[in-house]
Amino acid sequence: MKALFEELRPGSKDWVLAKKIDPRRLPAHIAVIMDGNGRWAKRRNLPRVAGHKAGAEAVRATVEACARLGIRFLTLYAFSAENWKRPQDEVSTLWRLLHVYLRKELSNLHKHNVRLTAIGRLDALPAAAREELEAAIQATQANDGLQVNLALNYGGRNELVDAFNEILKEQCGRAAPGSLRVDEAGISAHLYTRHLPDPDLLIRTSGEMRVSNFLLWQIAYSELYVTEVLWPDFRRHDLLLAIADFQKRDRRFGGLSRVPPARQGRACGDPHPR
Ligand code: FPP
Repeated sequence: MKALFEELRPGSKDWVLAKKIDPRRLPAHIAVIMDGNGRWAKRRNLPRVAGHKAGAEAVRATVEACARLGIRFLTLYAFSAENWKRPQDEVSTLWRLLHVYLRKELSNLHKHNVRLTAIGRLDALPAAAREELEAAIQATQANDGLQVNLALNYGGRNELVDAFNEILKEQCGRAAPGSLRVDEAGISAHLYTRHLPDPDLLIRTSGEMRVSNFLLWQIAYSELYVTEVLWPDFRRHDLLLAIADFQKRDRRFGGLSRVPPARQGRACGDPHPR
């Protein structure tokens, strides 16, 4: 959190709030359903795409705040598998925005030691966005600070279908039909997020009480935080409020104490309690 305090004025609203946050109990992985871009634009009599543009600014601010705080993983729901149903011009604006964001922000990602990754059915992305994404992933792969994981053309059900199909493909080659077997660890190990710990905190903006097909398996024990703030207005202060609220929760994982369940099928060896 040192990098955060460097930019906070002692005694300011965010300084007071940040002082209340215990750096030893930060969520390792924060996932965000960025909702409310359309409503933000509507309230200003602007086209919906103006809301998405302002949303990209909130992405920039949130990535920087997470990096300064020392959050290890941030997964952002940027385009769902269902978002293709929107009008064509909105869909193409969203992909163009991603393209522009990646171009513009690359130096900032490096400055904050951010590594970029992505999950979803990425093969179906428009070529320009996919190429820019691949270039940014490649360019930041040696950074070892915050990992920003963009969920693009992502659906939680798609992810489970893809995981099961991978398991079937692997097992059918070598196991006798009677011994085919799927278990929790096996499923976790075949998810798009297999290299990430499950989210500790799931934030949804704009007040809707839904999970919208996001990380269905992984949020089994995530703490949910829903704020009325519309995504384009979301800033460091709102993130600090969410984390302060998270730290008040008593996480029991179905048991009676704070001890997390044993890790299952995880590749990343994350020491944080989940
Ligand atoms: C939901 O708001 C938001 C989206 C479908 C897209 C999220 C995209 C961005 C934040 C901008 C670009 C992203 C990156 C990573 C640069 P909505 O349109 O459903 O809002 P509404 O419910 O108010 O209509």
